[in-house]
Amino acid sequence: MKGAYFILGFILLVLAFSFASASDPSPLQDFCVAINDTKKGSVIVNGKFCKDPKLATVNDFFFSGLNIPKNTSNSVGSVVTPVNVDQIPGLNTLGISLVRIDYAPSGGLNPPHTHPRGTEILVVLEGTLYVGFVTSNPNNRLISKILYPGDVFVFPIGLIHFQQNVGKTNAVAFAGLSSQNPGVITMANAVFGSNPPINPDALTGAFQLDKKVVKYLQSRF
Ligand SMILES: *[C@@H]1O[C@H](CO)[C@@H](O)[C@H](O)[C@H]1NC(C)=O
Ligand SMILES: *[C@@H]1O[C@H](CO)[C@@H](O)[C@H](O)[C@H]1NC(C)=O
Repeated sequence: MKGAYFILGFILLVLAFSFASASDPSPLQDFCVAINDTKKGSVIVNGKFCKDPKLATVNDFFFSGLNIPKNTSNSVGSVVTPVNVDQIPGLNTLGISLVRIDYAPSGGLNPPHTHPRGTEILVVLEGTLYVGFVTSNPNNRLISKILYPGDVFVFPIGLIHFQQNVGKTNAVAFAGLSSQNPGVITMANAVFGSNPPINPDALTGAFQLDKKVVKYLQSRF
């Protein structure tokens, strides 16, 4: 009997941990509009300081301009416009955010990246996107598809994913993310553009590349 309780307790503990780490914690009040802490040297651990709810205004819950296309003339040919807790302070503690992504015609790329704190659900408004994500080790299976306007695709939390415009016109997508601050780690930038740089010897082994190639890649980021 004791053993059964122990197993039940263990299962509940595992479930509690998996819920706790699956997404942002749930709020314990209607809202908690973020304000910057004014105390010097303090650290914000989970979420942000809250405004007195009586002082909250409509603009704490509002953002405008996601209808405006962004200029995609950059090295990858895409621009992500985030709308998270930094743009809408009222999102603090609510576990959700949004992005608009613009892609240049014929190849505009949102390069392989992960969101450490959020699952993403993306809907294509314009254009044709080649999208995909890769499962974790050891299989590293690629799950990918060509998307057209109206198509929706999910990128599970933490997995490396990408989108590329494979059409001849501009492409536009919107995506919701299950965190007020999902975070982004772009693979190439993190690995080859870290500050300070990772010792090239470590990358030579990891990528099975000549040291010259590694140094060249490091110079590009
Ligand atoms: C909080 O601080 C950040 C960074 O210093 C700034 O960009 C932002 O506008 C500030 N937000 C408010 C509500 O004052
Ligand atoms: C987009 O940005 C590029 C490079 O910064 C610039 O040359 C170009 O004029 C911009 N295009 C528009 C429509 O603003």
